[in-house]
Amino acid sequence: MLAALALMLWVSEYRYLIQKTWRQESSNMDKLAGVAKEAIITKNDFLVVYYFKEYKRNPMVKSVALQLPDGQFSVHTDTRFMGTVRQDADGFWALSIEAPAMRHVKDAQENIRELAAPIYHGAEKLAVVRVEYYEEIVRQLILKELYVIMWGLVWVGVGVLLIGFFGAMLLALTFTRPIEQLVAAVRSIGEGKWEKRIDMERSDELGYLATEFNHMAKKLEDLYSAQQFFVRSLTHDLGAPLAGIRGYVDLWHDGVDLGSEKTQQALATMRVATDRMKRALQETLDLFKIRAGRMQLSKKPFSLRDLAAETVRILAPLGDARKMKIRVQSSVNNGEMDVFADRDKISQVITNLISNALKYTPQGAGDILVRIMKNEKATVLCVADKGPGMTDEDQKKIFLPFYRIQSDAAGEKIPGTGLGLAIAQGIVEAHNGRIWVESQLGKGTKFYFALPNEKS
Ligand SMILES: Nc1ncnc2c1ncn2[C@@H]1O[C@H](COP(=O)(O)OP(=O)(O)OP(=O)(O)O)[C@@H](O)[C@H]1O
Ligand SMILES: [Mg+2]
Repeated sequence: MLAALALMLWVSEYRYLIQKTWRQESSNMDKLAGVAKEAIITKNDFLVVYYFKEYKRNPMVKSVALQLPDGQFSVHTDTRFMGTVRQDADGFWALSIEAPAMRHVKDAQENIRELAAPIYHGAEKLAVVRVEYYEEIVRQLILKELYVIMWGLVWVGVGVLLIGFFGAMLLALTFTRPIEQLVAAVRSIGEGKWEKRIDMERSDELGYLATEFNHMAKKLEDLYSAQQFFVRSLTHDLGAPLAGIRGYVDLWHDGVDLGSEKTQQALATMRVATDRMKRALQETLDLFKIRAGRMQLSKKPFSLRDLAAETVRILAPLGDARKMKIRVQSSVNNGEMDVFADRDKISQVITNLISNALKYTPQGAGDILVRIMKNEKATVLCVADKGPGMTDEDQKKIFLPFYRIQSDAAGEKIPGTGLGLAIAQGIVEAHNGRIWVESQLGKGTKFYFALPNEKS
């Protein structure tokens, strides 16, 4: 295949060189004829002789001659023919042409090619320039040139092969290896090895890919541990009350008689336990909806001040039980429809904030204050208590699902799932609002949320 290609290339290149040579020689003939004409007109034979001799130095050229119309060679580089007259067919050929011509002559020893060009002065034919070439030498010279070209091509080919080889090696070193590394890392992640990272210091696209991969892996790892935490917490929240219920069921199953008073107590405990489980499930479901962006909001304008007052009325009995008052303060005009939001969902947020304040503030520490403020951009609600407060560290974490501050103040175990604030945050943010906390350990806590005023 390669050999056939090389042969084709060889043949076509050879043909091209032959054609080029004769084209070149034909155009030289014009120059030669020009010089001869000039010499004839100025009668300067010496110029022609000198020029023809120079021309014959070319090894392809056998002879150069100037033949007059009567057949006489006025100049001939083969001195034997100088001044001789040729009127045979050979001589006649050149005399008969009217335009530059070419012919092959098969001599006894060699193949000759002859080019001839007539010289005119007006309509008068002054003479003919004749140049004979050795065909064999022309062929040899062309073959020599062809060899040079072909060797050049071979070297170029070898060079290309070498460059290709080293290029491929370089490519393997600079790209294939890092890509293999990336693939291995992706596979590890796929197998659940979340801690896998790529160690690659590069400033190109692959380095960028590695950095992005590491970010993604970190996010996946965080997500996975959050999910683990979520499942553990939920299992605990459902598992603990279930275990309690199961304990009583086992007693009754074994025929143990607790007596009517203890039985009543057990039933009350079981009711609280099932309520807790129901709440935990409901809250988890809410959170899932929020996380999946599937929370439906039915927005309408309403007064945040009215909603706060209403919520406080509902929760007041809880406060009374803990000997705490919940006061409402508002700088918003009575009855002003200041927010455009889902009233039930916002009520859920306020309920959680106030019930947290009630739950976590020890009895006698002070009252709870609910304030509503408004500026040109947003309406803000604040729930302030004089409870235990929290550290900066805890302030950063309390909005995370299931996060609860570990405190065993007075050994009191306050019930809760740790989902309330996460849900509140989800609801507020779904309204393009913001929720935040300001707190000082030992002084109290203020929870704020802001809802944009404009209809959005
Ligand atoms: N006003 C507050 N003062 C002190 N700590 C608080 C206050 N509000 C919340 N916290 C802390 O933040 C944690 C998270 O509150 P969050 O409302 O999310 O959950 P929870 O009250 O424990 O349970 P629930 O899901 O029933 O609301 C609480 O467990 C508590 O430790
Ligand atoms: Mg709560």
